[in-house]
Amino acid sequence: MLITGPITPGLVSFLLGIIPVFVAWIYSEFLDYKKSASLSKVHSDNNLVELEKETIKEDDRAVLLEGGLTRTASVKFHSSSIKMNLIRFMTMDDSFLLENRATLRTISEFGMILIYFYICDRTNLLGDSTKKYDRDLFLFLYALLVMVSGMTSLKKHNDKSAFSGKSILYLNRHQTEEWKGWMQVLFLMYHYFAATEIYNAIRVFIAAYVWMTGFGNFSYYYIKKDFSLARFVQMMWRLNFFVAFCCIVLNNDYMLYYICPMHTLFTLMVYGSLGIFNKYNENGSVMTVKILSCFLVVILVWEIPGVFDILWSPLLFLLGYTDPAKPDLPRMHEWHFRSGLDRYIWIIGMIYAYYHPNVEKWMEKLEESETKRKLSIKTGIVSVSLLVGYLWYEYIYKLDKVTYNKYHPYTSWIPITVYICLRNFTQQLRSCSLTLFAWLGKITLETYISQFHIWLRSNIPNGQPKWLLSIIPEYPLLNFMLTTAIYVMISHRLFELTNTLKAVFIPTKDTRRLFYNFVAGAAISLFLYFVSLILLQIPHSSA
Ligand SMILES: *[C@@H]1O[C@H](CO)[C@@H](O)[C@H](O)[C@H]1NC(C)=O
Ligand SMILES: *[C@@H]1O[C@H](CO)[C@@H](O)[C@H](O)[C@H]1NC(C)=O
Repeated sequence: MLITGPITPGLVSFLLGIIPVFVAWIYSEFLDYKKSASLSKVHSDNNLVELEKETIKEDDRAVLLEGGLTRTASVKFHSSSIKMNLIRFMTMDDSFLLENRATLRTISEFGMILIYFYICDRTNLLGDSTKKYDRDLFLFLYALLVMVSGMTSLKKHNDKSAFSGKSILYLNRHQTEEWKGWMQVLFLMYHYFAATEIYNAIRVFIAAYVWMTGFGNFSYYYIKKDFSLARFVQMMWRLNFFVAFCCIVLNNDYMLYYICPMHTLFTLMVYGSLGIFNKYNENGSVMTVKILSCFLVVILVWEIPGVFDILWSPLLFLLGYTDPAKPDLPRMHEWHFRSGLDRYIWIIGMIYAYYHPNVEKWMEKLEESETKRKLSIKTGIVSVSLLVGYLWYEYIYKLDKVTYNKYHPYTSWIPITVYICLRNFTQQLRSCSLTLFAWLGKITLETYISQFHIWLRSNIPNGQPKWLLSIIPEYPLLNFMLTTAIYVMISHRLFELTNTLKAVFIPTKDTRRLFYNFVAGAAISLFLYFVSLILLQIPHSSA
């Protein structure tokens, strides 16, 4: 087995951390097995019933845990002090291991997935192959997925409007998730098949994600008014937990996965703009001032030359990136380019979210008005949307990549608005969604990150994924099918594992606990890091 890329302290500390957990998990499973075996000996006549009950309980607990609904594990985990827990872990205390078997299993699974990532992308155990674009195949596969999804997962939702109890759904969750899903599939296939001809469309999709970040987060904070630290940490965990481990294990820069820093930044901006003086959020003029200041900040930072570099220079270590294929670009170039493309659209998302209740009320009235009026207004909206969409396509979309990127920040709201209008112009269209795409839309972050390593291949630290992972050489389509199946399954598991661990390590109500957990996590990481630094010195000095 040939390993490409150096053995880094990050990788070694990951292994130092995960191996004990793995051993502890296996041992806890053994303890659990022994316990249930001795139980069933006692009740030997009804041991089948007993076992069945046991598995049902187990399943229940897993389901509840993964839904993040119960805090049983976290309560147990935190019921004694962190120091006590560590000591009990290191001495392999039986009851501790039994209590935390589910958590140990989750961490072990997470670790094994990361090892699979390493094997796929940094060793030659599995092969690589080159990308090939064939428009016919690309469209065929996508159309096939849309058809399958339409035939098997078209669902009519009967959710009521939050405002009036009538079944009018304007920008509901099903639809935004479905929207994320179908865009994500195109985005991923664009990478897999190197479909460079749809570059501009991909830029619009990314803008739409950022728009949804603005829209979703604004609605959440505006309605729920939950600016608590725990909620904030949970959000950061959701966005950055997995990517942090990818960076450590695979020795990549954070900016390689530019979607993560970008969404983190815009989520922070929404959080900040609503959180500051949040008592006055109900006040219309305060809201106007807030939104105008968002524009002002963006103009100041991105439009005035030089400000961007000065402002972000303290974070160069985090946001710097050098593509090994283009070593001459400045370290900040990637961050400037990516964050600049979608600098305005999150504000547009906030504005849409702010006017959402008004539009919803207006649409309700429209649905109730007489048929002739309704039809003429709807026809008007649809024709205007189609016309605007066509003009955008003709005059903006068709531009070459470099020119298009120049106009993108100012025009990306056009296709997004057109899509929103068309997607909702009848009540039937509004209430239906394709749940297969919605399912994929939930795991976009995981599919985005995983694609680099277990679907495509980058082969070297910080490399762009220029190759395909090849498990079945010489059979590109079979290989596509197999790697895609594994990749989607792992992405879905990662989504669940991230949420389970979030529930375990981030207490919702106890800020002091949260702080202790943070300190303990940092201390353990630092300790592991120093040990691995020392370990890595040993072969050098003896050689
Ligand atoms: C419009 O389209 C969006 C995007 O799918 C959707 O979420 C929303 O519910 C639609 N509603 C209206 C009336 O704009
Ligand atoms: C806020 O935005 C982030 C990034 O897109 C997203 O993952 C998260 O679900 C959003 N939060 C809400 C409450 O919509």
